[in-house]
Amino acid sequence: MSEPKSAALHVGLLTGGGDAPGLNAAVRAFFHAATRRGLRVSASRFGFEGLLGRAGVFSVRVEDVRGILPRGGSILGCSTKSNPFALAVDRAAKLDVAASVKRRLIDLGIDALVLAGGDGTMGIARMLAEAGVSCVGIPKTIDGDLGGTERTCGLDTAVETAAHAVDALHSTAESHNRVMVVEVMGRNAGWIALRAGIAGGADAILIPEIAYDGERVAAKIRERDALGLRFSIIVIGEGAQPVGGTPSEIERARQGRPPRLGGAGERLAQALAEAGITHDVRVTVLGHLQRGGAPAASDRVLATRFGVHAAELCAERRFGRMVALRNGAIESMTFDEACAARGTVDPGGDLVRCARAIGIELGAA
Ligand code: F6P
Repeated sequence: MSEPKSAALHVGLLTGGGDAPGLNAAVRAFFHAATRRGLRVSASRFGFEGLLGRAGVFSVRVEDVRGILPRGGSILGCSTKSNPFALAVDRAAKLDVAASVKRRLIDLGIDALVLAGGDGTMGIARMLAEAGVSCVGIPKTIDGDLGGTERTCGLDTAVETAAHAVDALHSTAESHNRVMVVEVMGRNAGWIALRAGIAGGADAILIPEIAYDGERVAAKIRERDALGLRFSIIVIGEGAQPVGGTPSEIERARQGRPPRLGGAGERLAQALAEAGITHDVRVTVLGHLQRGGAPAASDRVLATRFGVHAAELCAERRFGRMVALRNGAIESMTFDEACAARGTVDPGGDLVRCARAIGIELGAA
């Protein structure tokens, strides 16, 4: 924006929203691919906080990205509290905010922004792009709920972590004849629950996309009892809800942040007791374990592919787009397309049918 066209394009990189395993691979890949094409790379610390607040912006050096592939989190830092539009109540206010972000970028001599993030960050990118800021998006979220892309970086690692937890809970469930309820993340998408549940051999999987009937889950436990299998494993997504209910929240939505979900597992345990289940029922909430730790190799590879393509889009001055995986290939789409696509589990889709076909109870017919 501020420099003559002949100068090297100066790109500001940030990791928005919550962290996800694989972000560092995306940062590293973007840096290498961009600098090899003659771009300058700076980074904003803690999402937008660096750009707009005190955390600051720094020029990324090759030393910064060495040895970071196996590290979880983001070397740039993340923030779920730095949405610049959090307090903007209408479109006019949003355009004002976008104009001030644009001015800030001009002051810093940054020509374009690359934002790695989930649906919230892509919404921010869309608004900024609309206001004339050159933006490119990289989809990351353990929730896997960005519909424009077949995969987001972070989901595979979260599924791996959750599946290992289900494995571990199996042995203790069996030793004590207990019902183990495992509450996993994913917000309003059931990808982690469904995939980890299938991978871990769960007896019931409850996802936000299919409202459950507690009686059906209780019937599944009794069916197993009748076979002499007096233990059961139930995986429940944090956004799952009983028929006629709503997701269980521990904090309401506020200032551009979605509600904090939690308590779905305990609520199910209560429903099972009401349905006459007399086993010991124990609830394990996996929480942020699913976001931490070394990224799976598949997330590192995906994030590397995303980072490289984001650098290509910048080098070719093709802004206003989010990189995506479609039909197994890396491509890109407009932020409008990216934000419009539904990324939740299809209740009639292949994975749900597969679970039902092997006798997993989904909580509804
Ligand atoms: O969107 C990723 C996610 O981990 C969700 O699965 C979860 O509901 C939420 O973020 C937790 O947010 P926080 O880290 O702010 O508690």
